[in-house]
Parts: sequence; structure tokens; C-alpha cells
Amino acid sequence: MNISGRRRARARACSNIAFVKYWGNTDHARRLPANPSLSMNLAQLHTTTTVEWADELAADALEINGAAVQGAALQRVSRQLNLLRQRLDVRCFARVQSQNNFPMGTGIASSASSFAALTVAAAAALDAALTERQLSALARRGSGSAARSVPGGYVEWLAAADDGGSYARTFAAPAHWALADVIALVSRAHKRVGSTAGHATADTSVLQKARLATADERLQQVKQAVLKRDFATFAQVIEEDSNLMHAVMMTSRPPLFYWQPASLTIMQAVRRWREEDGLRVCYTLDAGPNVHCICAQEDAAPVKARLRALIDGIELLEASVGGAAQVLEQPRACTV
Ligand code: DP6
Repeated sequence: MNISGRRRARARACSNIAFVKYWGNTDHARRLPANPSLSMNLAQLHTTTTVEWADELAADALEINGAAVQGAALQRVSRQLNLLRQRLDVRCFARVQSQNNFPMGTGIASSASSFAALTVAAAAALDAALTERQLSALARRGSGSAARSVPGGYVEWLAAADDGGSYARTFAAPAHWALADVIALVSRAHKRVGSTAGHATADTSVLQKARLATADERLQQVKQAVLKRDFATFAQVIEEDSNLMHAVMMTSRPPLFYWQPASLTIMQAVRRWREEDGLRVCYTLDAGPNVHCICAQEDAAPVKARLRALIDGIELLEASVGGAAQVLEQPRACTV
């Protein structure tokens, strides 16, 4: 495809929180996951990305929240654009401008929403006739969890062994169940070991085999619990799945300890609030110390009040169930 002048599109994708975690790959380069995973999109935490393919550019360029970015982050974006260049036989570079609406440096991963928005915007600008499934599989190559930010609502990501077969799809719409994620920001510090490095050491834990052997079963249990809106089963299985992933992390070589003392204080309190006080709330943690308190939307206010009483000055973010990645601006050719 020859491009003359410029072609631009803008897309927005939500972040997501996994209820059954992705940890470890069977193929690191292509990000083929070792197990299937399941998540919900987070409506209020999103990335908006504009991609402009332009024949006058000598290289790809990246801006995040208004600041020019070079180095490893730009390379990762370029590699993602290469996939589209190869697939559609495009021979020019692109200018990428990305904006996260969630506060930077909060320890809330932006790679899922970023690579989903980038992939959808880059493809839309080229007017590429790609299905949601193809866009999800492509987004996966940039960041595994980005596959789950392409479709909307409650999503499962299949762990197929082939590139086209490992994509994410919706199994319940956002309106199906009004859950909320109240995120307790235990630390804003940048994590020393990121997810990509962590996936690479997952197999060094003797517990990873056991986690993988039972992941399918947990996925089915969580999926059924979401479909039936069965909070008790949902809470028990997602907490167990998070604990299992962190057990693998803690027993990898070298070990990874993402929890901080305050993380554990919150996890224990959340269980008390559920078991003793009847609040519909449970916890899950990603590759960081922040605690995602997943609750019934109606219980979000008491959960927030309790978190504030538990930990003086704790910062909180809140999100409801989000939709699919969407193109905000229709593809258009602009004359220079
Ligand atoms: C702990 O998708 O961030 O959040 O593919 O290397 O970008 P990369 O990894 P990433 O891994 C997410 C790990 C997790 C669990 C999850 O979201 O499923």
C-alpha cells in the first residue's frame, strides 16, 4: 500500500483488570500465553492515541502525555507498527501521540490500554479491514494483556498455540453485571521488575506447573460465576488465582516480591469485610503492590470509606466496567 500525504486516526481503549491472571508465555517473542486469562475492562482508565502515517517522515515518532519519547518505549511502538507495515505492505513511518487519563506513575499498568489503542488507531488510519479478533491478536504482540482491551466488558483471552488463534473475546457485556474496581494506591513507585521480565522467569518457579494445570478450571469457574452473578464463588476463585500468581512470583529465580505490608493489610481487611460484614468485595493484585478491590457497584462507597479508615491518607481510583476499544475519528486522508 502506497501512502501519499498523511493518514490519521484516533482511538481510545480502556485498561483492564485480570480475574484469572496471565503469567508466563509459551512463546515470548509472539506473546503466546502459557494459560488463558479473563478480565474486565475499566471504563474510567483509558488511553487515547492518534496515529498519523506520513510519507515525509524518516522514522517513527512517539509522544506520551505531550512529551517526546525515545529509546526502548519508542522501539516497542515501532515493532508494533512493523506488524501492520508487514501485513498491509505499508512503506512509511508514523507519528504516534498517546494520552493516558489515569495519573502517571500511579503503578497502574498502561501497556494494555496503550497497545490496544495504538493497534486500533494505526489500523483505522490505514482503513484496514481487520476484525476485532484480528485486532486483538495484533494488540497481544505489543503487550499480552492489550489483547483483552480490544473487546468490551467481560473478556476471555484464549491460549492457543498459533498467532491468529490467541485473541480475546467478550463473554458478557458491560451492563451484564455492575461491578466496580476500587484501586488502593499502596505505592506510586515505578516497579523495578516489569511484567515482560517477570513472564520470562515464571517457569523457574516449581509452582508454575501447578498453577498452569489448574488455570483452565479457574477460568471456567470465574466465567460461570460472572454469568450467574455469583459473587461468593467469584470472590473465592479470583483471590485464589491472584494468590497463586504471587506465589509463583515469590518462588521464581530471582524471586519477585510485589506485595508491601499495606497490600497484605488491605487483603486481610477485604476478606473480613466480606466474611464478617457481608460486603460484596474481594481483592486481586497485578505485578505491583496496589490492591484492586473488586466490588458490587452498590458497595463501592462503603468499601472506599473503609479503605480510608484503614490506611490514613490512602489514595483511591475507581472504575466501572468498560466497553470495547473504539475509533474516535474516522480515517481520513489529509493533504499536506
Ligand atoms: C500481572 O500484559 O503487562 O498484569 O506482555 O510483557 O506487556 P507484557 O505483559 P503484561 O502482563 C500482565 C500481567 C498481569 C496479569 C494480567 O493482566 O493478566
